[in-house]
Amino acid sequence: MDPIKLGFNIYDIRDFFDNSYVKEYEESVISVRKYFSSKLNLCQKRLPYEDGCPSWNSDFIKYMDNLLDSDYSYLYEKTYYHKETDNIYIQMDYNFTKDCFEYFDKHNIDQNTINGEIPGVSTISNGFYHQCPFHEVEGFNRLKAAMKSGSTLVDYLLMTDDINFKLMKLCNGSEELPIDSKVGDWTESEENLINLTSAERKRKIWLNVLYAKQFHPYHQDGQGDRNRKFTCLNYPNVGRTLKDGGLFRYYDEIPVSGFTKWNVNIDKDSYHEILCNYTKVIILNHSIDNDIVGNLYHQVTKNLGEVRYNLYNTFTA
Ligand SMILES: [Fe+2]
Repeated sequence: MDPIKLGFNIYDIRDFFDNSYVKEYEESVISVRKYFSSKLNLCQKRLPYEDGCPSWNSDFIKYMDNLLDSDYSYLYEKTYYHKETDNIYIQMDYNFTKDCFEYFDKHNIDQNTINGEIPGVSTISNGFYHQCPFHEVEGFNRLKAAMKSGSTLVDYLLMTDDINFKLMKLCNGSEELPIDSKVGDWTESEENLINLTSAERKRKIWLNVLYAKQFHPYHQDGQGDRNRKFTCLNYPNVGRTLKDGGLFRYYDEIPVSGFTKWNVNIDKDSYHEILCNYTKVIILNHSIDNDIVGNLYHQVTKNLGEVRYNLYNTFTA
C-alpha cells in the first residue's frame, strides 16, 4: 500500500526547516506543553460542557456502565450539537474514560481489542478531544490582549501554521491550496478566528489528550464534513522514545470507499509505527478519492510515558 496515494502523508520537519527553526519550535513546544497542562483541569470537567467530540452511538457507554462502579447515567444526556448533521449527540468525558482505562489496565485489555469483544470500544477516543485549551484564541479581544502581553499558545500556533502550510502545499503539489485560509490569518480578523461556531467556520483545532495507560483501539476516522480538505496532525511532545509507547500505528489493509466495520480478517501484523514527537507531522488530504484516507485503519498504542498531546488542525474549502 502506498499511503501517499491514499492522501496519508508523513513528514519530518527537519527535512524542510533549518536547525535554528527546529530548535525554536522545540522551545515553543516545551512552553506550550506547560500551557496545556495548566488547562487540563478544564479538560477533566464532568459533562455537560460545550467542548469535545460526539459519540455516534451509546454501545460503548452502555457496556462499560454495567462493569464500572460509578453512576454514568448522566452520559445519556445529549450534549453535543453537530453542525454538519444538525443533530445532538451524547458524549464521553474524562471521568468516564479514566475509569474505563483503569478497568482495562486491571483486565489486560489493550489497543488490539475489537468491537466484537467490547461493543463500540473503537469510539472511546471520542472522549479524548478538547477545544477548551484554545479559549484564548477563540475571541478577537481575548486574542489581541494575549498577543499584546505575549502568548505561548499564539506563538506555538503561528509556528505550527508555518509548518503546516508548507507541508500542505508540498502534498498538494502546488502553491495554491483549495482552502480559504492563510498562515496566521486567524490573528488578523474576526471572521478568520479559529473554532468559530458559525457556518462560515474555516478552521477548527482541538487537542487530543492521551494520559498514561491510555490508547486508541483500532478505528477509522471517517468524518461527516465533506468540505474538509486537510487535517494536519501535530505532536507537541518532546523526547518520547519507542519505549514510551503512544505510537501511531497504521495498517497495510487498503481501505475501501464507504465506512466499514472493523474487519477481523485484516492482517494484524502488517502495520507501520510512527513515533509522535514535535518533529513529526501527518497530513491527511481529504480531497483524494472521496476522502479514502478517512477509512485507513489505525490505532495508538498504550501510552507508557508522560501525557501525549496531538493537535488537530483542520481546514475547509
Ligand atoms: Fe484516529
